[in-house]
Amino acid sequence: MPTTRPAGCPFDPPEELGRLRERRPLSRMRYPDGHLGWLVTSHTLARAVLGDRRFSSRYEHMHHPTLDVGPIPPGPLGDLTAMDQPEHTRYRSLLTGKFTVRRMRQLTDRVVEITHERLDAMERQGPPVDLVPAFAQPIPALMICELLGVPTADREFFQQRASLAESPQEQMESWNALERYIRELVPAKRANPTDDVLSDLTTSDLTDEELAGIGTFLLGAGLDTTANMLALGTFALLRNPEQFAALRDDPDLAESAVEELLRYLTIADPGVRTAMEDIELDGQVIRAGETVTISMHAGNRDPERFPDPDTLDLRRRATGHLAFGHGIHQCLGQQLARVEMTVAFPALVARFPTLRLAVPAEEIPMRENANIYGVRRLPVTWEVA
Ligand code: HEM
Repeated sequence: MPTTRPAGCPFDPPEELGRLRERRPLSRMRYPDGHLGWLVTSHTLARAVLGDRRFSSRYEHMHHPTLDVGPIPPGPLGDLTAMDQPEHTRYRSLLTGKFTVRRMRQLTDRVVEITHERLDAMERQGPPVDLVPAFAQPIPALMICELLGVPTADREFFQQRASLAESPQEQMESWNALERYIRELVPAKRANPTDDVLSDLTTSDLTDEELAGIGTFLLGAGLDTTANMLALGTFALLRNPEQFAALRDDPDLAESAVEELLRYLTIADPGVRTAMEDIELDGQVIRAGETVTISMHAGNRDPERFPDPDTLDLRRRATGHLAFGHGIHQCLGQQLARVEMTVAFPALVARFPTLRLAVPAEEIPMRENANIYGVRRLPVTWEVA
């Protein structure tokens, strides 16, 4: 599958995917390990595959779409995206009950506080500032701390470890440290429950191992994703100054702006599924055992679903996009992610109305070939009054 985004526009999917969508939205694809599977590039077919339970999400059935990694082991304990029914339903229903409206409302108040603390710190520091460690990473990191009930005293450690490290070696060490931390947090929550998702889950029949697995998975699912959306989303706004100005001048645009940025950027891509039986789709038969890669980014740029799809238009009604997936695995944390972005983007542009890149756009290092797309650094500057 073509993965690199074109040099000219760091936000667009590879052009080849658009050409495929026009000609054959369900096309055959040779995987790096030699497997002959499929590639989906239209919005309609992406939803059809993601919403069809005859396709499995289990890692051990799939072939990797971009790397020759050989047989893939099953997902770690607690990784919902690697489960099928009925195992998935058990975990998902336990978790869904913990992402309540009351909790999301409480979390909104904290997002507002945390966002303003970060903006104050940026103002004190003065320009230029790298927006990734200053703004995009700490907001989701602190919100995951709230969600999991990480004690205040440990948050500094947590935040340091959660920052997007440079080298793969450092990333692995940080991740292992966080995993160990969560494993120790579980018995602590069992002994002294507080008002958070992890404590709530200790009253279920889940074992400590399972709880640690879920905690670690939530951490992985909620950190990099939202951090990259905040940073890459800001980059996209700065590259489209009229859209930046629209949000600055009309904060009521925040909700539609967030949906449109999610659609336009589709940072968590692609989805991968494997047929568990022969399945007829779009006049072709996907045989049992064949892997299908779903380019949600190409689906989100489908002109049949979103007119003029390559234009970032914050006033567009981008509902029905695939950036949070679709079907039984659709993102469980999407309300939290929305809260974070709906608060953070308008607050940033209101506080720094003259925000701009501190280096030429071509010099912004992108996270190529990462699971989650984004920027590694985003140096920004502004006029000090
Ligand atoms: C902008 C930020 C985010 C994006 C773009 C995003 C994207 C996604 C996508 C595409 C999936 C589906 C994966 C698949 O079908 O295999 C997913 C699943 C999931 N996400 Fe998110 N996510 C975000 C934020 C979060 C947050 C903040 C949390 C929680 C703290 C979270 C928790 C989850 C969980 C638990 C799943 C698995 C659901 C399941 O398999 O049933 N996500 N996310």
